[in-house]
Amino acid sequence: MKNIKAIIFDAYGTLFDVNSAAEKCKDKIGDKWEGFANYWRTTQLEYTWLRSLMKRHKDFWQVTEDSLDKSMKAYKIDSSMRNELLDLYKILSPFEEVPKVLKLLKEKNFKLAILSNGTPALLNQLVKINNLDNLFDDLFSIEEVGIYKPDSKVYDMPINKYKIQKNEVAFLSANTWDVSGGGNYGYNSIWVNRNNNIFDNLDYKPQNEIENLKKLIDII
Ligand code: LAC
Repeated sequence: MKNIKAIIFDAYGTLFDVNSAAEKCKDKIGDKWEGFANYWRTTQLEYTWLRSLMKRHKDFWQVTEDSLDKSMKAYKIDSSMRNELLDLYKILSPFEEVPKVLKLLKEKNFKLAILSNGTPALLNQLVKINNLDNLFDDLFSIEEVGIYKPDSKVYDMPINKYKIQKNEVAFLSANTWDVSGGGNYGYNSIWVNRNNNIFDNLDYKPQNEIENLKKLIDII
């Protein structure tokens, strides 16, 4: 991968562990915590795609609440857990290698940014609470364009701001559909395959597949 000027990261599932909110409550939720966490995440994403198709936008925080309510019913989680789970979602932990790799990339003078469905407030809070706020040039939120990934208006944002070509971007996501979205758009997409998943059949195969961000330094 040559001539990369900007390294753009998806946030949820790529830099930050979306399951960490439910995991922190596993004593109260019990063994079903992981199934519940996956159901919550899947429902949340389905709501983003459906709302974009229906042209009935609500921001990512509202979608996160709506999907939590359905998931708590599906998994019979006591309603007293609602606020705790939502509070924890605002302070998700980064994956272990993330701070160190970001610091190394920053020293190499790449533009570093997040491009996420998250609201500006959520993204700001996440990077601040995890002491990552000095490492990013920008936190691009889909709220600026009012439609969710994988609409091309979302992937346009860094191109327009940095005045660079699509193939000068390395885009990293753990979400296969987001890798396909960014790749079909024209980014060099790298799949962060943290959970040994299977890739999608959506007309794009990632340029690279890595288990976590540590290998990124060798690729770029
Ligand atoms: C995001 C979701 C897709 O951060 O993970 O945009």
